[in-house]
Amino acid sequence: MKKKLIIAIDGYSSCGKSTFARAIAKELNYIFIDSGAMYRSVTLYALRRKYVGTGSIDEQGIVQELNDIHIEFVYNPDIAEYETFLNSENVEREIRGIEVSAHVSRISQIPEVRYRMVELQRQIGVYKGIVMDGRDIGTVVFPDADLKIFMTASVDIRAKRRFDELEAKGLRVDFDEIRKNIISRDITDENRDISPLRRAEDAIILDNSRMTVDEQMTWVFRIIDEKINGS
Ligand code: DC
Repeated sequence: MKKKLIIAIDGYSSCGKSTFARAIAKELNYIFIDSGAMYRSVTLYALRRKYVGTGSIDEQGIVQELNDIHIEFVYNPDIAEYETFLNSENVEREIRGIEVSAHVSRISQIPEVRYRMVELQRQIGVYKGIVMDGRDIGTVVFPDADLKIFMTASVDIRAKRRFDELEAKGLRVDFDEIRKNIISRDITDENRDISPLRRAEDAIILDNSRMTVDEQMTWVFRIIDEKINGS
């Protein structure tokens, strides 16, 4: 039987981590987990329950209800993709909106939220044969992952990609607002006390500013083939 891997993909927001991770998972027939979607789902829950105000967050309220937040990834055969479900509701579209994006960094800094998400991510990982993308997958969630990739790309390119993605989904968006949101999320992700975004020592850097998805796939499959069929 072929060796099954845990592949950890971390990096800055809007680098195309999910697209890349999803494509790898499809090619290998692995499970794909978008860990950012989990933090986004908690954020949506908190917004709906009014635990997030203009300047304040009721952390205690969120933490108290963590056990009521059920997140699943359900395969949709019509689009051949996994979609995010929050308490049995398909929230895939809503969690990508600007309101969730504006608050998710702060929600993902709540220690109890992180512990719970990491616990769920590790439970999924016991099956191996998974590709998970996020910020702390190679450093905290799976420090022994078989392959770790750290993705980066320029701010302007990332803002353009996010803009195109949201527009394609029919959401009305402002480019400058997206750009600002990316910059501020980079700062928060890199400087937070708990699980800050950083490259694991054994992660391979992929700067995809000038690479197509096909080029990235060729690059990564050289490494993956070696891991699966090599020594
Ligand atoms: O990848 P994304 O933009 O969908 O992630 C949304 C937010 O969630 C991002 O601001 C950082 C946070 N996040 C995190 O803290 N840890 C992860 N493993 C994944 C995402």
